[in-house]
Amino acid sequence: MKTVTRPYIIVFVTQTIDGRIGFRGKRTLLSSYRDLERMHYLRRNVDAVMVGANTVLIDDPILAPKPLGATRKRPYRVIIDGNLAIPSSAKVLDTRILPTIIFTSSKFVGTPKAKELYKNGIILEFLRPLDETNRIDLDEALEVLYRKYRVGKVLVQGGGKLIGELVIKGLVDEMIVSLSPKIIGLNGTPLINIELDRIIELKLESIQVDHMTGEVVLVYRAV
Ligand SMILES: NC(=O)c1ccc[n+]([C@@H]2O[C@H](COP(=O)([O-])OP(=O)(O)OC[C@H]3O[C@@H](n4cnc5c(N)ncnc54)[C@H](OP(=O)(O)O)[C@@H]3O)[C@@H](O)[C@H]2O)c1
Repeated sequence: MKTVTRPYIIVFVTQTIDGRIGFRGKRTLLSSYRDLERMHYLRRNVDAVMVGANTVLIDDPILAPKPLGATRKRPYRVIIDGNLAIPSSAKVLDTRILPTIIFTSSKFVGTPKAKELYKNGIILEFLRPLDETNRIDLDEALEVLYRKYRVGKVLVQGGGKLIGELVIKGLVDEMIVSLSPKIIGLNGTPLINIELDRIIELKLESIQVDHMTGEVVLVYRAV
């Protein structure tokens, strides 16, 4: 039997009929209040909520479950930010609400930005970059979360690049896609925002139709 060395990964994302998750570079509200309820339910039941750096740069989310008091869990907010690019003013960096971990390249150890973040209570995990663009190994980041922070379940909430990378590496256990009855066209970011060289197949587990909002919630599992 294979030893478990990483958390269980759930992706939750709201996409349009045409497979987009928001206008490029612009905060776009696709979720209905019912969809947000679904999202907060999931956030209340995981140990960490994770996003990619662009999602922080574009949406500036707080990434906290609501209501916060409704759960004993206090999920870490985790940002994958190889270039340590998110601004110090980002809402997710307010650690009075919940702890925040940034995974970034070891190139930034001891830089003024890293020191400032550390002073503000942010947990920085430096990983050796895989290339010159400061890509970090997501397997390694997940293993650190699992072993060092005892994170057993992660909710990944986007964006398309991070989801794409996790999918291609076979790191997604469950994918919940809320299909919103909207269309935003080619200037939208795709759900999988990277190139793939093969077809990835998941197994459909359930379909739930929300007749109040017109959303269809599709739950897939890894094959
Ligand atoms: N509809 C929804 O449910 C939903 C949810 C969340 C986000 N969104 C939308 O998604 C869009 C953002 O998605 P996106 O695809 O542009 O970006 P993203 O996945 O949020 O972030 C991608 C960036 O994160 C960093 N990153 C990701 N993986 C990394 C790795 N392995 N190593 C190092 N750094 C890594 C990279 O930063 P560098 O480029 O600096 O290397 C990368 O460009 C926004 O428009 C947002 O509104 C929608």
